Amino acid sequence: MNSGDILTKLKNKKIGVLYGGLSSEREISVKSGKAVLSALKKLKVMAVGIDANRDVAEKIRKANIDIAYIVLHGHMGEDGTVQGMLEIMGIPYVGCGVFASSASMDKDISKKLFRCSGIPTPEWTVIKRLEPVAEIKKYPIVVKPVSQGSALGVAIVKNATQFAVAAKEAFKYDKEIMVEKFISGKEITVGVLNGKSLPVIEIVPKGEFYDFKSKYQKGGSGHIIPARISCKAYSNAQYYAEKIFKVFKCKAVCRADMIVDKNNKVWVLENNTIPGMTATSLLPDASKTVGYDFKDLVLKIIESSLYDNDGKKTQPLRL
Ligand SMILES: Nc1ncnc2c1ncn2[C@@H]1O[C@H](COP(=O)(O)OP(=O)(O)O)[C@@H](O)[C@H]1O
Ligand SMILES: [Mg+2]
Repeated sequence: MNSGDILTKLKNKKIGVLYGGLSSEREISVKSGKAVLSALKKLKVMAVGIDANRDVAEKIRKANIDIAYIVLHGHMGEDGTVQGMLEIMGIPYVGCGVFASSASMDKDISKKLFRCSGIPTPEWTVIKRLEPVAEIKKYPIVVKPVSQGSALGVAIVKNATQFAVAAKEAFKYDKEIMVEKFISGKEITVGVLNGKSLPVIEIVPKGEFYDFKSKYQKGGSGHIIPARISCKAYSNAQYYAEKIFKVFKCKAVCRADMIVDKNNKVWVLENNTIPGMTATSLLPDASKTVGYDFKDLVLKIIESSLYDNDGKKTQPLRL
């Protein structure tokens, strides 16, 4: 399908862009959601913004939308819950389904899936709240909540004192946290659009790592496309990203975060099913280099969520 075909199909259809929500990534989601909404308006597609709070189902019914475009990050949005609600409501939606969303949100489950699919991921252990913690013998390590995003609650820890502080902070976000082997190297991320990898982005954060500030503050990090890594690492990164898309049964889009160590080995950290969608986010940046501007990307994501490659509907659409 070319972009004209999908625009024709969307004629007289109303899209509800779900943004905001209840998670600690709310602010970021509002930004992404507004950018998607504005792109749809520029394309003259009928669209409304819906703040996905506790009353989201009511708002959706009232707005009488035909399709939901979910631009929520974190819990109750990126984790399969809103996707499940929309399935029960019989409303087709954009992006990954319930399984891919919930499996990707849980970094422990994700890493187990990586491991059994031959995708290298750093060693890790999970710590549950109030459970005894085995002595950590080797630092540095990374402490992070099992289910969270935007690097909230993530810390690089060099000793036992720092560990106690970091664990306390990470537990603010989740009842389970992870201790993961620290991988020193170049940080990269690979977007996948309809099963095909986009160019690999190298992320150069200003701070110690790609933390919340580096992610969202103006000038907080640089994006270099294509990533300055060896050919082998580049093709491995794209291979792993496409494999994740398949293994996690993703739909339309995902973006996997990775680190390339000094031996050119690629380590996968996590998968994101609703990557950031502001004009300066990673996925739109990578798409630009293959000729999709922000509007084209939004349309491509909608198209591959609702139709297969032969243009047949893949959801019980009221289209
Ligand atoms: N094992 C690790 N080794 C080195 N840096 C890491 C590791 N895990 C996380 N980081 C750093 O923390 C950031 C956030 O971690 P990530 O696992 O991607 O979670 P989030 O869902 O919060 O983005 C990464 O982008 C990276 O900069
Ligand atoms: Mg990440």
